[in-house]
Amino acid sequence: MNPVSYDPHHRIWALNARNSSYVLRLDDGDDAPRQLHWGPHLTPEQALTTPPLPPPGNSFAGTARGREEYPTEAGASYGPAALLIRFADGSRGVEWQYLNHTVDGGHLAIRWRDRRQPLEIVLHYRVYEDSDVVERWAELRHTGTSADDAPLTLHRVDSAAWSLPHRPDYRISHVIGAWGRETQLRRTPLPYAELVLTSRRGVTGHDTNPWVMLDAGDATEDTGEVWSSALAWSGSWHFTAWRAQDDQVRWSGGAGHDGLTWRLRPGERWQTPVFAGLYSADGFGGTSRAWHTYQAGHVLPQPDELRPVVYNSWEATGFDVDEAGQMRLAALAAGVGAELFVMDDGWFGARRDDTAGLGDWTSNPKAFPDGLHPLIDEVHRLGMRFGLWVEPEMVNPDSDLYRRHPDWVLHMPSRERTTLRNQLVLNFARPDVAAWAHAWLNRLVTDHAIDFLKWDMNRPFSEAGWPERGEDADLLWFEHVRQVYAVMDRLRADHPHLRIEACAGGGGRADLGVLARTDQVWTSDNTDAVDRIAIQHGYSQLYPARTMGAWVTDCPNPFTGRTVPLRFRFHIAMAGALGLGGDLTRWTPDELAEAACLVARYKDIRPVVQHGLQYRLDGDGVQYAHGDRTVVIAWRVAPAHGDPTPPLRLRGLDPAARYRDERTGLLHHGAVLMHHGLPLDLSAGDHASMVIRLNAVGQG
Ligand code: DGJ
Repeated sequence: MNPVSYDPHHRIWALNARNSSYVLRLDDGDDAPRQLHWGPHLTPEQALTTPPLPPPGNSFAGTARGREEYPTEAGASYGPAALLIRFADGSRGVEWQYLNHTVDGGHLAIRWRDRRQPLEIVLHYRVYEDSDVVERWAELRHTGTSADDAPLTLHRVDSAAWSLPHRPDYRISHVIGAWGRETQLRRTPLPYAELVLTSRRGVTGHDTNPWVMLDAGDATEDTGEVWSSALAWSGSWHFTAWRAQDDQVRWSGGAGHDGLTWRLRPGERWQTPVFAGLYSADGFGGTSRAWHTYQAGHVLPQPDELRPVVYNSWEATGFDVDEAGQMRLAALAAGVGAELFVMDDGWFGARRDDTAGLGDWTSNPKAFPDGLHPLIDEVHRLGMRFGLWVEPEMVNPDSDLYRRHPDWVLHMPSRERTTLRNQLVLNFARPDVAAWAHAWLNRLVTDHAIDFLKWDMNRPFSEAGWPERGEDADLLWFEHVRQVYAVMDRLRADHPHLRIEACAGGGGRADLGVLARTDQVWTSDNTDAVDRIAIQHGYSQLYPARTMGAWVTDCPNPFTGRTVPLRFRFHIAMAGALGLGGDLTRWTPDELAEAACLVARYKDIRPVVQHGLQYRLDGDGVQYAHGDRTVVIAWRVAPAHGDPTPPLRLRGLDPAARYRDERTGLLHHGAVLMHHGLPLDLSAGDHASMVIRLNAVGQG
């Protein structure tokens, strides 16, 4: 099947993904694009017969006929618009005139112009034969040729709007959260309203995350239709989901938040980030796996690598880093099997706490009298790679950088500058600021054998002004993110060995945009293994285990005060990209020995966890399947006396195959494991856990 087909007679385009189709057409009357179908495979002929929405029956209902592909406030249409544009004469909306389209493999670009205004719009679509994800983005161009032509005023340029077929009900799934409590999954009925999910913070945010899943209220983990979408953007963003009284359901989303205004001048283009959509008939689990596979195939920069076992110094030493202390930790980390040693905050400038030094990116001579080389050499001698924490977008007012360049931060001339964590945000939209950041990062990586950067970002924007740009200051909300991406992209291109971790006070910057240029995400500053279960469950809805940084740290946990067994902490962290973050100098020899065994166990299961398909199981467990190997991580947090331990029903196995438990040697039938479940020995009090490794040994 061609990835894109076009029927010129009916003016229909069909995008054919792996198991699904997305079909749109031009309206007969006015060339406006209208979605016909998003679901299982349909031919264009079949899609043409999809039932139209009933025509509006009265003057108050307006003229919109539903399923607008890119709503623009045109005519008497009252749903949320994807494009809010103002022309010089006060006109709004778009009068669509189709120009042409191009197809290049799975990429379709359809081009229109406004009938009376100097505007060209291109809607882009891309599908892949190995995925059901449809990538969509939009492009605007001011077609005026004279510098005197009035600019176009933009308030909202969404990447795409998605419409759903009629169902008796709809439910929305998304995550909520906060610092230390990211990605808490919520499923709620979709209200008859405009429901807004947004970040107004300049960064993706902890409060929610730019993806949604919609279902008719009947999908389960294993079954049912789910429509979902995720935005590839790491700044402010918004989604507006709309359920009208006639049960039309559609949502629109893109970069930026309500209230921004910027201009497009003659000859200028505006391109949105990708808003990717996915239809799956395989429930929430199937939806998540399809997203994970898509990211491995089309988003992540190094999908074939295994993420190393990290040791990170933050919870052990805080800001109190020096050469001797870090070397001591490095020796212990290497001893338990860490492969990458990351020195966190505190190594530079006058940084001894969070009040000073951000912006002055040379090593602190008191803590590192001979610079970073001795530590880096020692880490390499111990057989580990070396990583360093940086926070390039930030500055402390108490820093040489700020004293030299007070105008480099986001600010408004007549407003106080609000500090958060004693820091201000550098305006990366300014070319000189982005160039400065690239220069010092490039120098740091070039002059030292640095293999990994943890790129942090510890506060949202405020007083987000850019006085030099006058009425176009709001551009900074977009340009800041583009420049962060550009700096990361350049660093990666110039240093092909360099790997990057995305972090914003934990999981405040996890999205498809940053994952296209980083290798993993620091999921949460909360490393309590019990709290992590919910955080990781929410994270896994969209993002794959290989990107989910998970450290084992000390007890009592600094966030929660909770004490749980080392084994339990390891097992929960093994569900992602395992790391260590505790103060190993305080671990007993027995604990270090146990940790070494558990790290070795992780390395054994790592290809399955990181490159396998993930199944969230009904009870307390998660399963990964890769080739003949299956790994199950199971736990019980705090059972009451007499609580049964039900067998854990596995997923995705070959019912006809037998599976050998690598530890016990016991053979299990795939059909039994999936229908009745795997018996578990989790009766040993609170926080019991186990890792089960199964190998398919043929049919029988
Ligand atoms: C926030 C990060 O999430 C932590 O892991 C640590 O790097 C601190 N910042 C350092 O300031």
